[in-house]
Amino acid sequence: MATRTGAAESHANGAGRAAGGSAIDYVGVSKDFGGGGRSAVSEITLSVAPGRFVVLIGPSGCGKTTLLKMTNRLYEPTAGRITIDGTEVHSLPAPALRRQIGYVIQQTGLFPHMRIGDNIAVVPRLLRWDKARVAHRVDELLDLVGLPPAEYRHRFPAQLSGGQQQRVGLARALAAEPSTLLMDEPFGALDAITRTRLQGELQRIHRRFGQTIIFVTHDIDEAVRLADEIVVMRDGLVVQHGPPLEVVTTPADAFVAELVGADDVLRRLSLLPVGSAMRPLDRANGATGAALPAGPTVTRSAALRDALGTLLESHEDHLTVVDEDARPIGTIDLETIQAVSGRAATGAEGVSPHADVLRA
Ligand SMILES: Nc1ncnc2c1ncn2[C@@H]1O[C@H](COP(=O)(O)OP(=O)(O)OP(=O)(O)O)[C@@H](O)[C@H]1O
Ligand SMILES: [Mg+2]
Repeated sequence: MATRTGAAESHANGAGRAAGGSAIDYVGVSKDFGGGGRSAVSEITLSVAPGRFVVLIGPSGCGKTTLLKMTNRLYEPTAGRITIDGTEVHSLPAPALRRQIGYVIQQTGLFPHMRIGDNIAVVPRLLRWDKARVAHRVDELLDLVGLPPAEYRHRFPAQLSGGQQQRVGLARALAAEPSTLLMDEPFGALDAITRTRLQGELQRIHRRFGQTIIFVTHDIDEAVRLADEIVVMRDGLVVQHGPPLEVVTTPADAFVAELVGADDVLRRLSLLPVGSAMRPLDRANGATGAALPAGPTVTRSAALRDALGTLLESHEDHLTVVDEDARPIGTIDLETIQAVSGRAATGAEGVSPHADVLRA
């Protein structure tokens, strides 16, 4: 990504820096659309700490979008309360609230008759930023989402690919440096490669600015990749809330197990570090610096799934595990990997982490 001096300066004086993330609390929040059916959202109580990346997952109609829309007051709850940094959202004027909260949806919602630059500038102009500051911010954001400003700022949305439009949607949501981002299946319509790339960009932006993000997806792999915490919803309720590893390895019930593919050995392996499965090196051996196998190595923080790939490609019977300073600290082989993936499988039925499964 191009780094322009102007952008760097604005970071130094604060114009380009987000103020970190907000705390969001839902207490007994319900939404009943009337009509006699069950509530779309039923007494949800959920705390999201500042700067956390929380992914909501659950079947169609379980209330994910409704929960997001109550957060920025596109819907009002029927009961309960939602606070942002301790202030009830209900007490904030909706326009001010929505400037503090960026909102990205699958159909980007870009204005088709407005150029990309003008689309991104909507909120800064509402905030009456002066022209130069708006123009600077637009270019800074286009840079941030990987679209060269000179090439893209004057185009219309229809002249961009779906993935590029999604980038603009993200840039627009970030325009006023929101402390919170609500993202409703933002990458749902994209091909796998574009999707993976945008996930990476979003992670980079989150690491840099530390917004609180609530992200809805139907894709458990996306959830596992992005989430600090996964919230599983069903019929308007939260049925499980925890870190990805916990949700995938100890699903609360059969429904969650099926939803998150808890019996998917490879998914579990992608969440476990090599260090959790290695045989520590014989201390005496390590201390005397005895000849170590010259074969392939893997770092202890790498995912077991990657280690397995390396192992299978290498045709060796084990890999040497090294620490961050490339010092050998242990070994790993198929047997140790199987032992760990099997142990992590409690709660899911019919798991048989044999080599043929792993190779599949
Ligand atoms: N504006 C509305 N008026 C009436 N009912 C609604 C409205 N919006 C949502 N609902 C209902 O509330 C429930 C939850 O809908 P919601 O859109 O929150 O689900 P979702 O989890 O986002 O589903 P999806 O994964 O399909 O997007 C559904 O039964 C839906 O029909
Ligand atoms: Mg939805």
